[in-house]
Amino acid sequence: MKKSKRTKKSNSWKIKQHRDQFFKKSKILGYRSRASFKLIELNEKFKFIKNNSKLLDLGSSPGGWSQVASKIITKGKIIALDIKSMKPIKNVNFIKRDIFEEETKRIILNFFQGKLDIVISDMAADTTGNKSLDSIRTNQLCSEAIEFSTKILKPTGVFVTKLFMGDDFVEIKDLAKKTFKVVNFFKPDSSRVESKETYLHCKILKTL
Ligand SMILES: C[S@@+](CC[C@H](N)C(=O)[O-])C[C@H]1O[C@@H](n2cnc3c(N)ncnc32)[C@H](O)[C@@H]1O
Repeated sequence: MKKSKRTKKSNSWKIKQHRDQFFKKSKILGYRSRASFKLIELNEKFKFIKNNSKLLDLGSSPGGWSQVASKIITKGKIIALDIKSMKPIKNVNFIKRDIFEEETKRIILNFFQGKLDIVISDMAADTTGNKSLDSIRTNQLCSEAIEFSTKILKPTGVFVTKLFMGDDFVEIKDLAKKTFKVVNFFKPDSSRVESKETYLHCKILKTL
């Protein structure tokens, strides 16, 4: 077999092994999605979820991130939001809504009776098969989540989001830097190496 073919085969084997490893781990630990490990890693690195946090999980379905947050937040409050349904999770209040609907912000602020400590967003647009278009649509959700956070976060709040390293990456990075005093990039080990997704951890609104 030619060397390039052998390398390709061994790379795809490694990718499959990586995916299977987190899939198996999520089944054993009872997580609904492999995505849970990404939030676990993000929180291990930046230590932002506290037991009394008020947290909003954007694009929550099927619930992997909400499961992780609900284990830590025992004295705070959690809202999970998605356009798709989500099976109930203890201590998590789910609302089936679109982030772009104007009324969504009001509903969230009403529920928390004020502003929030943390907004996490793993929102992603449904895939079309066109990777560049998918990346642009998901990054639009990311920009909306940043704008949304400025209206509902406490000045010292934390914002975490997924984004793709596509053509509009710099635009989003600049928006995050314009909005928050601290902006960190982090690619968790549980995120597939071949995936262009990465995560942003931001804190302290620049209005402070
Ligand atoms: C990758 S999944 C999230 C996985 C989740 N974090 C977990 O741990 O199980 C992305 C989610 O974003 C949601 N989404 C996409 N567009 C949305 C929108 N406009 N408003 C709210 N949720 C949206 C999708 O319905 C989908 O469930």
